[in-house]
Amino acid sequence: MTLLQELESRLAAALTAVLGEPTPAAVTPAADLRFGDYQSNAAMVLAKLRKANPRALAQEIIGHLDLTGLATAEVAGPGFLNFRILPTAYAARAAALLRDARLGVPATGAGRTVVVDFSAPNVAKPMHVGHIRSTIIGDSLARIARFLGYQVIADNHLGDWGTQFGMILHGWKTSLNVTALEADPIAELVRIYREANAAAKADPDTLESCKAELVKLQAGDGENLAIWQQCLDLSKRGLQKIYARLEVTFDHWLGESYYNEHLAGLVDEFLEQGIARVSNGAVCIFSDGTMPPAEDPFMVHKEDGWTDNPAIIRKADGGFLYATTDLATLRFRIDEWQADEVWYVVGVPQQLHFRQLFEAAARWGKTGAFRHIAFGSILGDDRKLMKTRSGDNVQLAEVLAEAVERAAAVIAEKNPELPADEAISIAETVGLGAVKFAELSQNRLTDYVFSWDRMLSLQGDTAPYLQYSHVRIRSIFRKLEGPFDATAGEIVLGENEEIQLARLLVRFGEVVPTILEDFRPNLLANYLLELARAFHSFFEACPVLKAAEPIRFSRLALCDLTSRTLQQGLHLMGIRVPDRM
Ligand code: ARG
Repeated sequence: MTLLQELESRLAAALTAVLGEPTPAAVTPAADLRFGDYQSNAAMVLAKLRKANPRALAQEIIGHLDLTGLATAEVAGPGFLNFRILPTAYAARAAALLRDARLGVPATGAGRTVVVDFSAPNVAKPMHVGHIRSTIIGDSLARIARFLGYQVIADNHLGDWGTQFGMILHGWKTSLNVTALEADPIAELVRIYREANAAAKADPDTLESCKAELVKLQAGDGENLAIWQQCLDLSKRGLQKIYARLEVTFDHWLGESYYNEHLAGLVDEFLEQGIARVSNGAVCIFSDGTMPPAEDPFMVHKEDGWTDNPAIIRKADGGFLYATTDLATLRFRIDEWQADEVWYVVGVPQQLHFRQLFEAAARWGKTGAFRHIAFGSILGDDRKLMKTRSGDNVQLAEVLAEAVERAAAVIAEKNPELPADEAISIAETVGLGAVKFAELSQNRLTDYVFSWDRMLSLQGDTAPYLQYSHVRIRSIFRKLEGPFDATAGEIVLGENEEIQLARLLVRFGEVVPTILEDFRPNLLANYLLELARAFHSFFEACPVLKAAEPIRFSRLALCDLTSRTLQQGLHLMGIRVPDRM
């Protein structure tokens, strides 16, 4: 049980005693540490229901509250219950963490299967900033879910069957540069795609040729299928390099094309079951009128009131759409993988698509916890969408290369003595960590401004700061004569800095599960920054190696726990810690 749960259970017992019936109660971490470590507004809520005086009720609850060995409590303001945890309770819990590989994190996801759908770039189109965000956020959520005991299936739902293939096939046949393709396949595919796209806009004959190539491909033409397959393989190989550098892994790469053969049958099923109907030759899903229009994803408000906003699943010309594929994909994940949950890490612009998808799935009888985990944009210094100087979308591979290069400069300045090969590997760890942390420490829904200097600062709210904190702690242990046996002593908390550090270490097990309540890795980022700051205050105020036993052991144990928690927390964000910096 976490401290918070322990408080809740003791509070529930007191409430039950006072009110004469089983009454659960919520406890939250205190907003302001001056008043305690945890708080509850239970007395106020219950007093309102029973028209009682909240402060008097709070006093009565405290009278029945047994907090022996755990905390002290007092009534504050209009009837808040404030709890302060006893240093001995923190010490006992911190001591338990020394022997716990999970650092107190409960397996809240045990027995559940979740598919995390993230990254999912489009073949032969450049990965844009949205894919960067999806890749980093999705990977972190998958790691967190895994750590919490979920069975996680990470699936890269590549856009590998879109209309872009008309252009690519045309470009492949008319302007492919084989040498360039071998050197950098993605860049060459993007080039032929862009050229064909521009040519098709300017010249109706080219447009016709592109369309004809696409029709041939979709009709199963052997030559076009072979080219498509080759594009796919090359693209995947290019992507795999980026993922390997980022240490992002997938269990499957089932792209859109995987579901092709199921689309026709799916549309028939929707027609038979009356979930969809034909409208102007297309097959569409309309509102079924069971929801208020403001909540109905198949309705939209226009000047003259609410009108239909159907999801098309088959075009009048027989073509299938993104929504059709996503319905087939969802069915596969539920039927084949027994998914209890599916998390889609995709930008805000696709919100309507997912609202329609989930509603259509519900009418189709597909149940589960389906979540669109949306995110905003990354902005450049000018606060506009991040672009390169030539106006192109920023490429993920280039961002990573530049991050590592800049990290190398920071490290060279900080520690010029490092051997060259070690400096390179540290720069990789620091540069990639900086990019990931900058992403994950943001509220995912807000647009954020990309700033190299800010993300690489050793003093700021950055990965390098956390990595450096970890390095500093490890250097304490290097000064010990032998290995540190974390089980060979007791934790004793005297100084306030020690208590605050222990408080945060014990909080880790409460913080990690809350990240998934609303899919907010930034809660973890904030927590780790707070932990590192508490460590530095502790380290300034409390001598460690020079302290006398038993304090010395206790402080070393706090150091050890801090470094393990930092390492584990960063690992959940896909960030490594170097040994030196
Ligand atoms: N390929 C899509 C895009 O780049 C993202 C796919 C997200 N996943 C999904 N199941 N729709 O916009």
